[in-house]
Amino acid sequence: MGDILKMNRMMIIGTGSALPERVLANSDLEKMVDTSDEWITSRSGIKTRHIAAKGEETSKLSTAAAMKALEMANIGAEDLDMIIVGTITSEISMPSCACLVQKNIGAVNAFAFDINSACCGFLYGLDIAEKYIKTNPDMHVLVIGAENLSARVNWQDRNTCVLFGDGAGAAVVSGSSSGRGMIGGRMYSDGRLHKLLWMNSAPSMNPALAIPDHDGSYIKMAGRDVFKYAVRALSQAVTDVLDQEGFDLADVNIVVPHQANIRILKSLADRLDIPLEKLYINVYKYGNTSAASIPIALDEANRAGLLPEGEMILLCAFGGGFTWGASLLRW
Ligand code: ACO
Repeated sequence: MGDILKMNRMMIIGTGSALPERVLANSDLEKMVDTSDEWITSRSGIKTRHIAAKGEETSKLSTAAAMKALEMANIGAEDLDMIIVGTITSEISMPSCACLVQKNIGAVNAFAFDINSACCGFLYGLDIAEKYIKTNPDMHVLVIGAENLSARVNWQDRNTCVLFGDGAGAAVVSGSSSGRGMIGGRMYSDGRLHKLLWMNSAPSMNPALAIPDHDGSYIKMAGRDVFKYAVRALSQAVTDVLDQEGFDLADVNIVVPHQANIRILKSLADRLDIPLEKLYINVYKYGNTSAASIPIALDEANRAGLLPEGEMILLCAFGGGFTWGASLLRW
């Protein structure tokens, strides 16, 4: 608890999330590709995922999540100084999804930008926000992770289409001298491995711009390699951030990981030698929502009362790039 003496930490003061209305179950996928509920469940843990319809584009889901986070934080949109959206599936390339959110919520005093770091988008966003808040604790920053991956998967490719879902999660952060907040983070990338998980750019609002049968029009993934690297990288990031901040896993109350796949999470728990129950898991409901998965899980856990004040929370993510990282917070 020595960390409690440190001042001016970035603290999460509000969370929110939004999911598209339509739910696609494994039994629906059985009618679309040669797959089965048994295969999907045993390989990924996923049972259902939410699929965005028109009107539920990435910026719209982001806006809905942001409004809920602002409400919980009890501040107005005009109080925001910065908006960061982690996404690889904004409906348009320019302006950023963050600028669309700014317009939608009326955050007239904020500057806004997106970051492209796949499943690490929210984690990288928090890390950037923390650097600003450390030097200016009065700032309010909105950090969002949001995706419309269903627009970018090949619905004929059973290797990928069963794994992903859509959604958005948001957090409002500000400075605090209470001892609560972000203790530290470790972020990594390795672009040499980019061909193991990638897609070409094409706005998700315009699927017509995706070239049919072109290799890069949809998410492409070397699943087994991704699995191997993900487990190794996640456990490295977790160990590194704990070492860096002088804690060990026994100090952590709950791990809120990127929700890619139950088997990755089980392997991670095994490797770290912690019970699976220490991980907050909702992948079975939403599939892999990339940058949105951690903030959705965080909001869900927060609203369910699973994050008591003062407990230590560890966030960790791995995704295309490759990108990976871990952050430690005193809730
Ligand atoms: N239904 C039925 N069969 C399928 C399906 C499906 N949906 N998808 C693939 N298969 C078949 C393949 O065609 C292959 O068949 P073949 O042997 O006849 O060629 C076979 O299943 C492969 O089976 P396994 O080797 O048992 O598959 P594996 O155990 O590797 O599981 C999976 C595949 C789930 C993709 C796994 O490798 C994985 O989880 N990888 C990580 C991927 C991931 O999570 N990516 C998300 C992005 S990165 C991130 O967020 C961390």
